[in-house]
Amino acid sequence: DEARAETISAFDFKEIEIGIDETHHVAEGYDADILLRWGDKVFADSPDFDPMNQTPASQAKQFGYNNDYVGFIPLDGNPDHGLLVVNHEYTNAEIMFPNFASVVKETKDGKEAETVKLGDYNKDLVDIEMAAHGGTVIEIRKVDGKWQPVLDGKYNRRITADTEMQISGPAAGHARMQTPSDPTGLKVFGTVNNCAGGITAWGTYLLAEENINGYFGGEMAEDHPEFAQMKRLGIPGGQYEWSKFHDRFDVSTEPNESNRFGWVVEVDVMDPNSIPKKRTALGRFKHEGAESVVNKDGHVVFYCGDDERFDYVYKFVTTGKYNADDRAANMDLLDDGTLYVAKFDADGTLEWLPLVQGQGPLTAENGFASQADLLINTRFAADALGATKMDRPEDVQPNVKTGKVYVMLTNNSKRKADQIDSANPRAENAFGHIIEISETDGDFTSTKSKWDVLLKCGDPSIADVGASFSTATTKNGWFGMPDNCAIDADGRLWVSTDGNNEKATGRTDGIWAVDTDGDARGTSKLFFRVPVGAEMCGPSFNPTSDTFFLAVQHPGDAGLATFENPATRWPDFKDDMPVRPAVVVVTKQGGGRIG
Ligand code: FEO
Ligand code: CA
Ligand code: CA
Ligand code: CA
Repeated sequence: DEARAETISAFDFKEIEIGIDETHHVAEGYDADILLRWGDKVFADSPDFDPMNQTPASQAKQFGYNNDYVGFIPLDGNPDHGLLVVNHEYTNAEIMFPNFASVVKETKDGKEAETVKLGDYNKDLVDIEMAAHGGTVIEIRKVDGKWQPVLDGKYNRRITADTEMQISGPAAGHARMQTPSDPTGLKVFGTVNNCAGGITAWGTYLLAEENINGYFGGEMAEDHPEFAQMKRLGIPGGQYEWSKFHDRFDVSTEPNESNRFGWVVEVDVMDPNSIPKKRTALGRFKHEGAESVVNKDGHVVFYCGDDERFDYVYKFVTTGKYNADDRAANMDLLDDGTLYVAKFDADGTLEWLPLVQGQGPLTAENGFASQADLLINTRFAADALGATKMDRPEDVQPNVKTGKVYVMLTNNSKRKADQIDSANPRAENAFGHIIEISETDGDFTSTKSKWDVLLKCGDPSIADVGASFSTATTKNGWFGMPDNCAIDADGRLWVSTDGNNEKATGRTDGIWAVDTDGDARGTSKLFFRVPVGAEMCGPSFNPTSDTFFLAVQHPGDAGLATFENPATRWPDFKDDMPVRPAVVVVTKQGGGRIG
């Protein structure tokens, strides 16, 4: 009967057991095959991966490091043949480079501790890192039931931290976007820290620029006009050595260069020579992703998280409408529209507040002289509107079937008890939560909607954690730190995580299938788990949802891992091959829908 049916999960795969070991695991009846690994050829003439003798030129023709977002763009509408687009978020020098890192004993506060110390950089190592960042576009197809890369695919492309890009939209050419190397303020090289992303209805690839601060070094005077906004973004973060070899990453020489990062980048994958565009209309912050939906009236709506403790959830609504019959007509939709920031009210109302120069407090007197100024300082504009400070907004995913939108809030260890609110209800939120937005009448352009907490994460068997998984959720089924997610062709939610490990939750990261409807709402099941040290990224389906693309990021990065001693040698398990981040492709044995 109907009532009983509602209590049954929408997923019928057999859940796997949690655990921590050197390899990946997928539910019974499924294959999880390695599709692309760091160093794999992207072109027919790419050099073979030679980890002991890697060069910047080799890396620029090979699959990059730390695969994160994965998207699939079908060719000629074929669900079994298309372009795979993959972000390469960051690099781990200590496990990428041979003879570079060492374990040293250090004495701190009278206590001895072991840490990993990096060796000295040279320009080649920095340039390998730069070439290992960015993105990959590669043709793939299913042959005899198995996916494989097409190395002579005419669309294959590597995008790196050195690829020429155009700055477009309201901030293009603005004085604050001009540098000594580019007085036009229109031309920038490269994209970095591309965490999540998106693909558009017109078949373009979006890379979100997230933790851009770490790439900038040098020092800046506190009375410099850019100092405050840069500080808010943590610039210069100094996590990389790039500024020692490339002046543009040194804020004391080219302070405006950092204003040219922190955007969403759009790539026309159908022209491998196209110049990617940084779409400034979508704002500048630590962009996690840019997932989108074509609204019923044709406007296109993009959802973006700003991944920092106490930062915001955004959406962007295009002024123009999507034209299904004319691809070219859509190519600059992202240059014109309205950016909104979310205010979650205690009564369950969600107000989307427009970030438009001249409106409300967003005036020249308050430091927003133009829309360009406002967009470069998006966080300050959102502060001025009183948007809700969230627990690290990551992927924000619309569900076109239901009009709902899922917001991954990964954690916030710094939220104090007197800072909790209804949308961020736990102090020292170690395990994160998921908010479900219901856009009014399924209209994704709505400026007044409803919201609810779908899940508070963490171990439901420990009362103090305050987790809210359903009682049908097993000991394997709960998780912490939701990060990215995907909606399959049936409108079901799949969540990937970042930060589960032996210490945090006694399990690795993985993919959990989460029920959102009926009595099963809040029930979660473990479908896939990663090898030790890794984070789960990527998740996305092909259009028929019989293929699930997953990205295993920073495998082996646990404890005192180095190139010589990673925590696992996944996925090759060869003594002379380092641990390698890789894209995994999951299919059902015998075919059929995943899950
Ligand atoms: Fe790259 Fe938001 O984590
Ligand atoms: Ca994360
Ligand atoms: Ca997603
Ligand atoms: Ca992540």
